[in-house]
Amino acid sequence: MSSAQAQSLVEASPFSPEEEKILNSWTKAYPHPMMGLLEAMRQVQTWHLCVRPKDEEYLADLFKTTQNHVHQVATFFPLFTKKPTGRKRIGLCHGLSCAMAGSDRIAELLEKKLRVKEFETTPDGEFSWEEMECLGACEHAPAIIVNEELKGKATENLVDEVIAGSGGRHNGQ
Ligand code: FES
Repeated sequence: MSSAQAQSLVEASPFSPEEEKILNSWTKAYPHPMMGLLEAMRQVQTWHLCVRPKDEEYLADLFKTTQNHVHQVATFFPLFTKKPTGRKRIGLCHGLSCAMAGSDRIAELLEKKLRVKEFETTPDGEFSWEEMECLGACEHAPAIIVNEELKGKATENLVDEVIAGSGGRHNGQ
């Protein structure tokens, strides 16, 4: 990388120096640097709770590709969002097994208890929820995850427990 390129990255960087080091490490983690792009994007999603256009721009420079390519990757994988999710991103499976096991009712509960619609975030930024395709945990139907961690079979009690993790502020009472 030329010093002019490095300077332009620094000037445009939406990341701290420590974060830049981590992102840069993904360019060397695999034989082909592009394989690290997904991991870098995953990291950015965790930090910013979304992947913003300026993040895409930075990653495109870093991985020597186009912003359009990074944007296509971000659009293809549901893991990546354009606007911030909640710090606790709840995923409710609505695949066939989970739909048959009552995921619609759990979706209604989430909307009622969090007081936000799907893909919206609570005003304090703590929670968002969304329906997802099969999570590979059909034996737990209807399956629910929080930040990619499987919580198990979604019941009203489990939903309450997940929400109570923030002190029960969203119990909707
Ligand atoms: S259909 Fe829901 S986890 Fe497979």
